[in-house]
Amino acid sequence: MPDPVILDSIAALRMWREERRAAGRRIGLVPTMGALHAGHLSLVSGVKRVADEALVSIFVNPTQFAPNEDFSKYPRTFNRDVELLSEVGAEAVFAPRVLDMYPEGFATAIEPGGPAKAGLEDAFRPTHFAGVATVVTKLLLQCLPEVAIFGEKDFQQLAVIRHVARDLDIPVEILGGATVREADGLAMSSRNVYLSKAERGIAPVLHQVLLGAAEAIRGGTRLDVIEGGALRELSSHGFITDYVAIRDAATLGRPEPGARPESLRILVAAKLGATRLIDNIAAG
Ligand code: PAF
Repeated sequence: MPDPVILDSIAALRMWREERRAAGRRIGLVPTMGALHAGHLSLVSGVKRVADEALVSIFVNPTQFAPNEDFSKYPRTFNRDVELLSEVGAEAVFAPRVLDMYPEGFATAIEPGGPAKAGLEDAFRPTHFAGVATVVTKLLLQCLPEVAIFGEKDFQQLAVIRHVARDLDIPVEILGGATVREADGLAMSSRNVYLSKAERGIAPVLHQVLLGAAEAIRGGTRLDVIEGGALRELSSHGFITDYVAIRDAATLGRPEPGARPESLRILVAAKLGATRLIDNIAAG
């Protein structure tokens, strides 16, 4: 496959976008922070099924990292990313610099509500979704794609972005892409490289606990009992758990009594050593 066009400024992106529009091409955006893996590549393939061309943004967004988080050590593998994107036929890569996105004097932010205040990631990373919502809004307005796709692995993020796009009338269709897993069930993530060999051996327990919880929900066990059991199971394997929560999949709110398993999502965030992992699955 030909190499993707590299667009390294907003001006270059705008020119490319204008040409594509004139040619009547439908653009699908895949926002990423790079360090690409099979999960990202499946999003590119997914967006290419519904758009004529895939535009992938690579930008490690500083505003979604808290000062104590891994912004400076977040893996940056640009050349390898472009090789992988060429293999899956992405047409263009938008790779702005921090100063392109946040020029001197930048002073505007999107403060999302609704699913951004569900008491999940937001309870542990209080500034995270404002950073995500701000950068994604900027990316959508810069790239003006017909469709944009985000991984379901960050399930709350996907819900927040859908909400922001709807609330701000951004004319884009937001799609979710299924989580891609390693053979042992661990959800693919750019942060998995931080795991030591021993931690990597334990990490798939996170997915096994989710599967067990889903089975218990389908079997009719009380949701708080399932959450408590999952917490104990994770802690017995050495995880420090931020939350295990069974929520309404559409709103991320607490489920109504008697909610059907198909309407529920089980979400987890837990630390293994210094690495924080998140995952989620449908209950039904
Ligand atoms: O999911 C990610 O990689 C990031 O949060 C996103 C959506 C690219 C915004 O920086």
